[in-house]
Amino acid sequence: MSSKNGMKIGILTAGGDCPGLNAAIRGVGKTAILNYGMEVYGFSSGFLGLVNNEYKKLSVLDMSGILSVGGTILGTSREKPFKKQEYKKYIRSKPEQIKENVERLGLDCVVCIGGNGTMKTALKLQKVGVNVVGMPKTIDNDIWGTDRSFGFDSAVSIATEALDRIHTTANSHKRIMVVEIMGHDAGWLTLYSGVAGGGDIILIPEIPYERRILRDYIIKRYEEGKPYSIVVVAEGINIPTKKNGQKRNISAGTYISEIIQKDTGLETRPTILGYIQRGGSPSPADRILASELGSHTAQMIANKKFGCMAASQNGKFVCVPLKECAGKLKNVPPDLPLITQARALETCFGDRI
Ligand code: F6P
Repeated sequence: MSSKNGMKIGILTAGGDCPGLNAAIRGVGKTAILNYGMEVYGFSSGFLGLVNNEYKKLSVLDMSGILSVGGTILGTSREKPFKKQEYKKYIRSKPEQIKENVERLGLDCVVCIGGNGTMKTALKLQKVGVNVVGMPKTIDNDIWGTDRSFGFDSAVSIATEALDRIHTTANSHKRIMVVEIMGHDAGWLTLYSGVAGGGDIILIPEIPYERRILRDYIIKRYEEGKPYSIVVVAEGINIPTKKNGQKRNISAGTYISEIIQKDTGLETRPTILGYIQRGGSPSPADRILASELGSHTAQMIANKKFGCMAASQNGKFVCVPLKECAGKLKNVPPDLPLITQARALETCFGDRI
């Protein structure tokens, strides 16, 4: 154990959970205690814990045995403390409550582990005088400024395994199987799992599809002696929100399944993978990324590099100012080499055959 450097830090996990959060808490927390002699406090349920002052001092023992465990030992929420609210004059606003709690506990910095929304809130906290460092996590891989966010690799594995299973039942029944994958407004998870799982059609928000192309491609496969097809659909693709003038709430996968069945006359089934993509144990790559990012974060705090996000770029760990990355979405470039390669194997992206 190194000598105390006198710093106190808070850690919170915010937004949707993902595999690798505990590995990240362990990475930053243990490095902070063992290498810098810092005191570490874990806040419960994301920014809610910071508002309500719900925390626990974390020891090395508290962070032992959690590397491979899914979810987050701290809990999470989608609390947005800067969202406009009606405050009675005599009640302090949430940002004021946070400031007071952080000052009372004497925290030098709060580590905010989360996705795009979390980075935006972290930047706002920095602006009101609470030191923060961000750590990028999300299965969506859509955080600008880092090549990878942990959670993504595990989700790709889970979705790929699901596609492998869908393949065998699709083949048995000679059906068109549509699988909806998470990813918010970005297509990374759909693209990677779609390619790894041998999807015949891959639809992502970054490449607009044409309904007619879906039909023509599936019929062409049918006529070539391939009576089944796997269609991998990102939840964020553009779909009509009205049918016969009536508003309707339908998921992307269900919609694509409906139109394919209607247009081709072939038996079509939708599967929405849902939260299974976020649960369970992190992959080895995510455990390593979260641990490395965690240690890098502790180092950044020791060097007082506040208002930044720990990130990995071209195999190096760097510090990206939150004002440069918060609020920017990292989308899939349509000319990504992986897409070109997949097209060469006749994978259809819905824009051309
Ligand atoms: O951002 C991660 C993510 O899993 C998205 O892919 C998905 O759209 C969203 O969270 C769902 O989140 P929730 O239902 O937990 O709000």
